Amino acid sequence: MTAVGIDAVEVWTGNLKLDLPETFAPQMDEDPEKYTKGLGLQASSFPDSYEDIVTMGANAAHRLMDRKGLEPDDVGRIDVATESAFDNSKPVSTYVAGCLEEVFDGDFHHANKGERKFACIAGTQSLDDACNWIRAGRNRGRGALVIATDTALYARGDAGEATQGAGAVAMYIDEDPDLVELSVEQGYGSADETDFLKPNQQFPSVDGKRSVQVYLARMREALEDYESVAGDVHPDDVAYAPFHTPFPGMVRKAAMLAYRHITRDTAIEDELAAEIGRQPRPEGFDDDEAYHDALREYMDALKDTDQYREWYAETIDPTLSIAREVGNWYTGSVHVARLSALKHALENDEELAGQQLLVGSYGSGAQAELHAETVQEGWAEEIEALNVDEQLESRYDITFEEYEEIHDVHNHEMDVDIEACTTPDGEFVFDGWGRMGEREYRYVE
Ligand code: CAA
Repeated sequence: MTAVGIDAVEVWTGNLKLDLPETFAPQMDEDPEKYTKGLGLQASSFPDSYEDIVTMGANAAHRLMDRKGLEPDDVGRIDVATESAFDNSKPVSTYVAGCLEEVFDGDFHHANKGERKFACIAGTQSLDDACNWIRAGRNRGRGALVIATDTALYARGDAGEATQGAGAVAMYIDEDPDLVELSVEQGYGSADETDFLKPNQQFPSVDGKRSVQVYLARMREALEDYESVAGDVHPDDVAYAPFHTPFPGMVRKAAMLAYRHITRDTAIEDELAAEIGRQPRPEGFDDDEAYHDALREYMDALKDTDQYREWYAETIDPTLSIAREVGNWYTGSVHVARLSALKHALENDEELAGQQLLVGSYGSGAQAELHAETVQEGWAEEIEALNVDEQLESRYDITFEEYEEIHDVHNHEMDVDIEACTTPDGEFVFDGWGRMGEREYRYVE
């Protein structure tokens, strides 16, 4: 079977940066270490007043098409995944295509366009749809543009305000990809949950603590389901495990559970037994409570072992470096985690071609999905071509007062107009409203 997967990727961060420990924490009367150590975050990226999900998505896609020398005729499908859409009918992908048609010759009239919604997992679902469209032979030699774009803002005062972010990831999905091939095997953990939702409202209603538990429960189900089709996962088989990262502290919790699961009944469990005992099994206990107490005790001990620390430092920590600086990009977040890992590998001269990534996506409401990806020969050249560091460094560092204004500018219930903090340069910008309430865009040279 022909390899299908991600040929190229580009990101576009919101042009503003909110420093969490320095600027945000003191105003919230909180210890900066809650951010740096607890949540694992340094900063959130924010959209300037002329940015939104369309500009960020179109800017990422523009960079990607330019760099890969792609023309509109090479694109047979444009899917946008977002949970920040502003229209219940007209999909964001049509706006993005309109933007791209301003700067490329030709048009996307023969590309199938859509919008995917299932909270943060929609980016991965769009990727999956694109791969299936190609595997089904319906692509006529063309590839698919998948764009995950979000302004992950919470209501002022909500606990989620600590984890905000804004940015887009654009991916080109094709046969014989340069970056990663996606496995056909995948596992799901899906249930009707009420942890995070936006019932026709811009900012989410969130049960934060519960959302953390739901993430872990669904991810565990997805891992079991994945293993039922792909066989048991062993730590030695996985170079990196990029997970959906609402904040790095969440992945720290998920990694712990995953490690316990994938080391059960392995030589690693035997090796650890001398130091911390064997993993508790339900059949060894009279009731659930005693079993769960024993599990907690085992996990506490496991966390401090050299084996776990080494695995975490090699397999998980490198996936979190960009998230630490940008916060949650919702649908783009797991794709940012993959990119962080590959960037780390490049910076450390790793020979990664042929190795496996275990990718864990999650969307509230709730669903987790796991699949494997095989890194392709062209990966290093692809990652080298990115300018993520320059983008992050050139963000404008906002004061708390500017943060308050920017949050209001992006609040759909408010009509606030402020001077932008930055000057657009070679990018699409929001240019006001059209006669039917549509949003208008233009390219600024
Ligand atoms: N030093 C070190 N650590 C500190 C600290 C300090 N001074 N102060 C607090 N901490 C630690 C806490 O112990 C805690 O860590 P643990 O959970 O490991 O104990 C962490 O920092 C966060 O502190 P709190 O729990 O007190 O923070 P909070 O009450 O403000 O809420 C939250 C945290 C629930 C995640 C909140 O930010 C939230 O609601 N976020 C939005 C929802 C979310 O992201 N959920 C994640 C799963 S759902 C999902 O993944 C989908 C999605 O993208 C939204």
